[in-house]
Amino acid sequence: MLLKEKIQAQLPEWRERVRKLVKEHGDIKVGEVNISQIYGGMRDVRGLVTDISYVDPNEGIRFRGYTIPELLEKLPKPEGSESPYVGGLYYLLLVGSIPTLEEALAVEEEWKARSEVPQYVFDVIRALPEDVHPVTMFSTAVLVMQRESVFASRYHEGMKKDEYWDPMLEDSMTLIARLPEIAAFIYRLKYKGGELIPSNPELDWGSNFAHMMGVPDLMYRDLSRLYFLLHSDHESGNVSAHATHLVASSLSDIYYSASAGMNGLAGPLHGLANQECLGWLLGVYDQYHGVPSKDELKSYAWDTLKSGQVIPGYGHAVLRKTDPRFTAQYEFGLKHFPEDDIFKLATMVYDVVPGVLTEQGKAKSPWPNVDAISGALQYHYGVTEFDFYTVMFGVSRILGVSANVIWDRALGQPIERAKSLTTAMLEEIAAKA
Ligand SMILES: CC(C)(COP(=O)(O)OP(=O)(O)OC[C@H]1O[C@@H](n2cnc3c(N)ncnc32)[C@H](O)[C@@H]1OP(=O)(O)O)[C@@H](O)C(=O)NCCC(=O)NCCS
Repeated sequence: MLLKEKIQAQLPEWRERVRKLVKEHGDIKVGEVNISQIYGGMRDVRGLVTDISYVDPNEGIRFRGYTIPELLEKLPKPEGSESPYVGGLYYLLLVGSIPTLEEALAVEEEWKARSEVPQYVFDVIRALPEDVHPVTMFSTAVLVMQRESVFASRYHEGMKKDEYWDPMLEDSMTLIARLPEIAAFIYRLKYKGGELIPSNPELDWGSNFAHMMGVPDLMYRDLSRLYFLLHSDHESGNVSAHATHLVASSLSDIYYSASAGMNGLAGPLHGLANQECLGWLLGVYDQYHGVPSKDELKSYAWDTLKSGQVIPGYGHAVLRKTDPRFTAQYEFGLKHFPEDDIFKLATMVYDVVPGVLTEQGKAKSPWPNVDAISGALQYHYGVTEFDFYTVMFGVSRILGVSANVIWDRALGQPIERAKSLTTAMLEEIAAKA
């Protein structure tokens, strides 16, 4: 497999680089922790390492050093299309450099060869109660495939530690290959009366998802690939990435680990925010029977805040500017359907809500994050069942978190185990300070 060769070729240098850094500079301090950080969700505590993506508070995400506009320009794309192959993105995440068209297609081919979803996965999803949230279905489907883990079986056979990354890559490729069909199956089962659309092996991974969803507009294929690129990775400290990393650090395989990450993604402050965000937009739309005036929108936003709720899609734990993942989707909408009502409303929210949040003065960032717009784009193409949005986020996020845990294994990261203190100990530290 191409990805295996490319990673293998880098391993001696990477391992030596990390070994040397830890051996020669292991006791150098990179930060301090104060009491508010311990009680405040470890915000800004530097305790994780990843070379796959980095979020600059003012600039937003870079994947392997590339900004989103750079990636959209440089990654290979299907002919006549504006969004890159997801296979090329995965190559970049794992290998660290922009692939050629052939290299991107090699990853796509590898996924195609592994894409058949075993019947038992569908049976398990069908056996769940009808009212189960689609993310629960998705996470369950990922988890149940654990029985096929190559990592788990090779571990029990006694594989050497420096080989751990290899079956992790194997498992990740198989898992990812199956995700579009599993996600589309959940969608069609839950919202389209179980009328399934067979996979089309001619299509790339992202387009095939769009096809199996049953969205007739071919531009939805471009949106799907864009969406999968944008949501794939956001450093290691966010809930889905950290949950995946933490669980994988105990040498659980990717099925156990990614399923845990998906359960974290399901929380309303993380992945579920995109569904809440569209819900909020539709609430505004309903209340004013269409796109409101700016003043009406402002008063709606204040009502939300006064009732003690957050305005979904705005604010961020790290970012302090407009999220470039928002901008990329916003530009897509502006190009293809600027007159769509819900898109226009989302644009107006972008105009009004930062001012409201600034006036309220609580949120450290009043700017939109990735979730503020993604639902509006899905809605335009008729994917209006917003319970499903977090599943799409999950399909994408497994790209990033799996790339991370493959490299965690390659570089021999140990089991994660942070230290806890009691409140009394912290009070004692405070009293002595
Ligand atoms: C993303 C988010 C969870 C980050 O949390 P955080 O790092 O704790 O954010 P801050 O440090 O800016 O929070 C400070 C205060 O501002 C509030 N705040 C932050 N974003 C807000 C928003 N969009 N609307 C209203 N209040 C907000 C917080 O609730 C907090 O209030 P508190 O002191 O009463 O608890 C938060 O901004 C939020 O809840 N946003 C809306 C949900 C969302 O879009 N999530 C998707 C994230 S990608």
